[in-house]
Amino acid sequence: MRSWQYDEFRHCGVDYSQVEQAEAYDEQHQQFRDYGKEFRGMLEFLDLRDPTDKTVIDLGCGTGATALLAAAMFKTVYAVDVSHAMLERARAKADRNTRNITFVKAGFLTYDHGGEAADLVITKAAFHHLPDFWKQIALLRMNGMMKTGGQLYIHDVVFQFDPRHYAGKIDAWIARFAAVAGGKFTAEVETHIRDEYSTFGWILEKMIANAGFIVEKVTSDDGFVTEYACRKVADVGLGETA
Ligand SMILES: C[S@@+](CC[C@H](N)C(=O)[O-])C[C@H]1O[C@@H](n2cnc3c(N)ncnc32)[C@H](O)[C@@H]1O
Repeated sequence: MRSWQYDEFRHCGVDYSQVEQAEAYDEQHQQFRDYGKEFRGMLEFLDLRDPTDKTVIDLGCGTGATALLAAAMFKTVYAVDVSHAMLERARAKADRNTRNITFVKAGFLTYDHGGEAADLVITKAAFHHLPDFWKQIALLRMNGMMKTGGQLYIHDVVFQFDPRHYAGKIDAWIARFAAVAGGKFTAEVETHIRDEYSTFGWILEKMIANAGFIVEKVTSDDGFVTEYACRKVADVGLGETA
């Protein structure tokens, strides 16, 4: 690794390398998330009716909220995360008979996909861990892991509001979040805004286009949590890998 390379294993903001964080994750998140409903919603959003012959890579898979459900439907699943602790939780939850899922300790900038080119790359609530420059590099790397015509699903906090009103927008969003997820989560959301790297929609959309994708669908109910359905339309060929 070059000395200027971003170290994606050094967690920014919430530290998912901590065993306690990984152990508490599902209980905390299931207070405001329904993994099954989210998964079905994602398939519908992507218009994916029969994924049984498809290969998917989940980058930043965490405790397997999506990857484990995908294993029951997709042909092959690669579940990738920089946190050993999060991957261990995902592994522990995997059914002993689930043979079509491979867990890999790596990240957006370090995962080398050796398998069949993917039909679908997903990343959920993880992309904001990279600063913008490295998001662009990550998108170029994703392009290299996929078939042309394949889909990219990004689900993350992406700022869609007018930045002139940022303080009120952020305060209101945190208050709405606290009402749904409980006060305990407020500090985590504040950490997200302060120490992690969520960016503007117009920046992310330009980076997606630069990396050989078109955005087919975008939706955000609250100006923060955003879903993108993208399609790879060109092989961009990353000249050099770090
Ligand atoms: C909020 S959790 C989301 C986990 C899961 N996708 C979900 O929907 O529950 C963020 C995850 O991103 C992982 N992560 C952070 N930086 C990463 C990187 N550079 N590459 C891959 N995963 C990363 C963390 O270890 C953590 O498991």
